[in-house]
Amino acid sequence: MSIKTHQFEVVIVGGGGAGLMAALYASKGASTAVISKLYPSRSHTGAAQGGISAAIGNLEEDHPEWHTYDTVKGSDYLGDQDAIEFMCYKAPELIYELEHMGLPFDRTKEGRILQRPFGGHTNNKTGKPVRRACHAADRTGHMILQTLYQQCIKNNVNFFDEFQVLDLIMVNGKAAGVVAIELATGDIHVFHAKAVIITTGGWGRMWEITSNAYAYTGDGAAMVLRKGLPLQDMEFFQFHPTGIYKLGILITEGVRGEGGVLINDKGERFMEKYAPTVKDLASRDVVSRAMYIEMKEGRGINGQRYLYLDVRPETVNKYAKIDGRTNPDGTPYQVTGEEILHKLPDIIDFCKTYLGIDPIKEPMPVQPTAHYAMGGIPTNVKTEVLSDEKGTVVPGLYAAGETACVSVHGANRLGTNSLLDLVVFGKEAGIHAAEYARGAEFAPLPDDAADFARAQLDSIRNSKGNERVADIAAEMKQVMMDKVGVFRVEEGMQEALDKIRELKERFKHIHIDDTGKVFNTDLLTAWEVSNLLDLAEITTASALARKESRGAHSRDDYPKRDDQNWLKHTLAWARGDGDIELRYKPVVITKYEPKERVY
Ligand code: FUM
Repeated sequence: MSIKTHQFEVVIVGGGGAGLMAALYASKGASTAVISKLYPSRSHTGAAQGGISAAIGNLEEDHPEWHTYDTVKGSDYLGDQDAIEFMCYKAPELIYELEHMGLPFDRTKEGRILQRPFGGHTNNKTGKPVRRACHAADRTGHMILQTLYQQCIKNNVNFFDEFQVLDLIMVNGKAAGVVAIELATGDIHVFHAKAVIITTGGWGRMWEITSNAYAYTGDGAAMVLRKGLPLQDMEFFQFHPTGIYKLGILITEGVRGEGGVLINDKGERFMEKYAPTVKDLASRDVVSRAMYIEMKEGRGINGQRYLYLDVRPETVNKYAKIDGRTNPDGTPYQVTGEEILHKLPDIIDFCKTYLGIDPIKEPMPVQPTAHYAMGGIPTNVKTEVLSDEKGTVVPGLYAAGETACVSVHGANRLGTNSLLDLVVFGKEAGIHAAEYARGAEFAPLPDDAADFARAQLDSIRNSKGNERVADIAAEMKQVMMDKVGVFRVEEGMQEALDKIRELKERFKHIHIDDTGKVFNTDLLTAWEVSNLLDLAEITTASALARKESRGAHSRDDYPKRDDQNWLKHTLAWARGDGDIELRYKPVVITKYEPKERVY
């Protein structure tokens, strides 16, 4: 099979928001290529709906320091405070930069960027929700993607769309490129590079109910793991409170930001029990847990595993009055159906399409949905990938966005901080990778650079067992949902780990039907499922070891946070044949000593 070789100073794997921002900045100082398994404008960043956070205070008092504190608190004190401070103080400048690139933010009457409240973002004096999320209706991520893609085209970034990256090339411990398959032809391509940036997003397809796109299979993180590098804090995976019942499709937290409330079978607005100050706008871990408790105690709607999210104007107006919610000018907050439609057009459209429900007239059935990986490839603030607990840098290798763990989200991410993370650290990645490339030579490319990638595909193609990939994937999703979801216990996680290992064994005996070269999605789906299995094993092993509850990692058998023993990051290596090595490193604490979280 012929191999095509390309050479670029900086190669970016993944065409979502972080990848495009990195490409934009790398291309200012280095020849740059983006390799993406999708067309970039279809990337999963487009699914982030409700906003991007920045304390620009357009509607009320706000400060980057408040944003920093809220993010530290939201992270359940596991986030590194130097990184969080860096991100939150950079936020305003990044918002204006996006605005100047042409991002169509919603506007106030005076023409300033409009902002809405989101979970966990507060006025630090009153503890009440603050309007910090800058938004473009409920399509903010989509607009970021479109804007950055246009800028990249303008800047002559080279795009290799519908190329699946399969392997990272390392020479003498340094990144030297990647190997990819071209989906349309099945040809193998080697991309020789001085620096590689991984921005492949998360792995929410590991769970049965998920807001994540089919493409979210953790390819970059699994690739790094196979190179003998660690992944950090994999036990922390966020469940977003409001996915469409059974489908998992995201209903933005912006619904609650605009005044929507969660209601149980008794018609109670139950969040006031769990978070008396911010109620429905508590952080996501708190809200998802409250929903599970309501359902477990029999207050799911009709006894089922869902609750209502109610954004009908009469409900919004009723609770706005009870809460004493006001507009920025002090007048009472009241909305009409028309205004809701204007602010949340996509989610109204989704509900009509998928459920036949008009949220202006009826409440939406929702359940927590696997949404976001707080853990991932460990990096420092310059986005350089780290190979151990001492912070040793892997030369030429960078990571940003959801696939990375810098760590600004710690044990639980605040809504709208993901879009902020990917623009702030995407930009850092582009700048630092281009700078590194300027001072580096191309490493000599090994003759066998593509061998491992080809061997992975051949072993799937030539496997003649009778296991079906779809069955293995379905069993993985089920066990992860049941045993490594919102609530966890030792026994269940051990069961999950055993199951994942059994599935990995069975994966060696799969067979696929398509042996062709052109758009062989049968082959590539199998490869993606193998990535998810590797990451499921690491996630579960990391979770089993952490004997406390913190953020999104909530254990019935260890219900308390234990700062004495567990205020530390997990690093996990896959040493082969089920041998997972765990080591730990301290959390960076600058200003905020851990204390109990109250919302
Ligand atoms: O609820 C949402 O709009 C999701 C945003 C996020 O995950 O940051």
